[in-house]
Amino acid sequence: MATAPSSTLIQPDNYRFLQEHIRIHSGIVIDADKHYLFEARLLPIAREQGMSTLDDLCTQLRRLSEASLRYRVVEAMTTNETFFFRESAHFDILRHQILPPLIRARKTTKRLSFWSAASSTGQEACSIAILLAEMGLDDWSISITGTDLASKVVERARTGQYSQLEVNRGLSASLLVKYFDRQGSTWNLKAHLKRRTHFEQFDLRSSMRGLGPFDVVFCRNVLIYFDAETKSKIIEGIHGTLFKGGHLFLGASEVSFPPASKFWRRSHNDIVYYEAR
Ligand SMILES: C[S@@+](CC[C@H](N)C(=O)[O-])C[C@H]1O[C@@H](n2cnc3c(N)ncnc32)[C@H](O)[C@@H]1O
Repeated sequence: MATAPSSTLIQPDNYRFLQEHIRIHSGIVIDADKHYLFEARLLPIAREQGMSTLDDLCTQLRRLSEASLRYRVVEAMTTNETFFFRESAHFDILRHQILPPLIRARKTTKRLSFWSAASSTGQEACSIAILLAEMGLDDWSISITGTDLASKVVERARTGQYSQLEVNRGLSASLLVKYFDRQGSTWNLKAHLKRRTHFEQFDLRSSMRGLGPFDVVFCRNVLIYFDAETKSKIIEGIHGTLFKGGHLFLGASEVSFPPASKFWRRSHNDIVYYEAR
């Protein structure tokens, strides 16, 4: 028997309802041809709730006033892909271009602060902590804040625990044994690094007043999900959280250009990053 094309599994008005629901609650823009994505991510939730179709789920979402199902649906549509030292050229720039003058400038206070602005399960923040430890900044006061919209990844990040599969992605064997303790098949970030990281749930579209000031912000592989207006508002907000002369890294595939009135565009070996004016 021929299977129905996947696009028949959801009515067009319900597809638009879901697109709008996700956009309103996360900023994430889902294109018109992503039926498979809704099915893969949301059908399991529908089934758990005793429903068999996405149309049923939409009826329930429209009816429901309580936030938990609404929120689960939004969270399920976030893409949490990340790994240690992702886009390693950024970490090389941090180590060799940004940190040496910053360390000299801060030698009296010995304070540095970082923000991993869409931290997912925390590998980006951990990578920063490891890099700073490798630079011998053990007696410095260092704060690495990780934030993400999705509470499930924030909770995971807070544990500092990673599976064998996760540590195999981006960590060398020597960094792994130096900065993690093995507990069965789990690897725990060592306490002195874990102390430097903390994770909070935060929607990048919220007011950033009160955040920072940061020396360096990593806002990578998240702006791609937003429309142009949302991207530029977020970049503007991040500018307000940075020290003057602080730095911003965007993901390499991110086609956003921070305004020249707010940021100097810097590059090193063809890798672009930004300095707050
Ligand atoms: C692909 S991960 C990027 C992780 C990490 N920055 C990296 O580059 O490896 C994107 C993250 O952005 C988060 N996200 C999506 N919309 C968001 C929003 N409005 N505010 C904050 N985080 C959001 C998702 O939950 C997801 O964990």
